[in-house]
Amino acid sequence: MTGALPYDEVVRGRRSIRGFLDKPVPRALIAEIIEVAMRAPSSFNNQCWNFSVVTGAPLDAIRRGNSEGILAGKPDSREFRRFDRVVDAHRARQIEIAKQLFGAMGIARDDRDARQDWVLRGFRQFDAPVSVVVTYDRALLGSDIAPFDCGAVTNALVNAAWSRGLGCVINSQGIMQSPVVREHAHIPDDQVIMICVAMGWPDETFPANAVVSNRKSVDEAVRFVGFDD
Ligand SMILES: Cc1cc2nc3c(=O)[nH]c(=O)nc-3n(C[C@H](O)[C@H](O)[C@H](O)COP(=O)(O)O)c2cc1C
Repeated sequence: MTGALPYDEVVRGRRSIRGFLDKPVPRALIAEIIEVAMRAPSSFNNQCWNFSVVTGAPLDAIRRGNSEGILAGKPDSREFRRFDRVVDAHRARQIEIAKQLFGAMGIARDDRDARQDWVLRGFRQFDAPVSVVVTYDRALLGSDIAPFDCGAVTNALVNAAWSRGLGCVINSQGIMQSPVVREHAHIPDDQVIMICVAMGWPDETFPANAVVSNRKSVDEAVRFVGFDD
């Protein structure tokens, strides 16, 4: 085990990484990270999660197929339910992080080409050397618990990676054309595709990697009930 950083330092320091060095990630290190991540709790300890770790030619084929499908106007075929429209505080937060990222990258509001280029990077999983596709057992399809458990293990995964110097971005753009991901990652039919995580060594010179996203305050998020103090 090579994990070194204290927990709070990992959680507070972690950021989504969207620019990667062209440097391979050892398979054993990824296995170690997934082993740590799978200490995540799950309902009835069902451990419904599975992982397809993709690199090299199959990952390039996924990037290509995902991008081409989107550019050709193929509908979103992700295997989870989505909201139709983001409004109010959620929309405001979406705009805020986009402004932070575009600001860091020097992308002007009216620069449509640069904005499009950024979106396309997302569909290519930010050209990361590794994609971890998180899936769950189809036997649990229809339960909200399986996506919840996948969220727990995915959060643990990005933190375990960060603790070892690796950067990640959880990336739902990368699975927009899920049949392409299924085909090239050879994901069996008994698995539902939940999300992918783009992973690699952070490029410290990539401006968006320095962006620290905001969080609402504990006062905004929490109601304490039944406390005396
Ligand atoms: C389920 C999920 C899907 C996400 N999909 C994308 C994505 O497609 N593209 C992207 O750039 N970031 C994506 N993100 C990253 C979020 O934008 C990011 O976690 C959030 O802005 C907070 O920033 P931080 O991770 O740096 O703390 C996703 C995160 C989650 C949890």
